[in-house]
Amino acid sequence: MSLAMLNLFSRALDCSSNGVVISDMTLPGQPVFCANPAFTRITGFEPDEAIGRNCAFLQRDDTARAELGELRRAIAAGAAAQVVLRNYRRTARCSSTNGPSRRWPVPRAASATTSAS
Ligand SMILES: Cc1cc2nc3c(=O)[nH]c(=O)nc-3n(C[C@H](O)[C@H](O)[C@H](O)COP(=O)(O)O)c2cc1C
Repeated sequence: MSLAMLNLFSRALDCSSNGVVISDMTLPGQPVFCANPAFTRITGFEPDEAIGRNCAFLQRDDTARAELGELRRAIAAGAAAQVVLRNYRRTARCSSTNGPSRRWPVPRAASATTSAS
């Protein structure tokens, strides 16, 4: 892929209204290594507050265990999944009870998710 195309994709991610994080599935704890501006707008977490952490930091005790189990099984299988999860903003206000959190594998090490507020 050319540098121009990479720059275009990067700008598209920056302009997207969907929050996107990319996690490194090859590392223990599957840490986030990239979060777009919409993720910050939706959750209130700056990229440097998300990078290096597992996405589970958005959850609280009332995040549905059944859906998390579904996500865990999909991750283990390297499969796509779409679940509705209760996540919390930086301010601890509920961020996405009604929006789907989608996760899909990307070949070679990364996967991405979008979450709607
Ligand atoms: C790319 C990616 C994105 C994820 N996004 C979210 C998310 O937005 N919200 C969330 O609660 N969990 C998200 N998860 C799920 C958690 O990281 C974790 O896999 C889930 O809590 C199940 O694992 P656990 O049982 O160790 O907590 C995401 C996982 C991956 C790999």
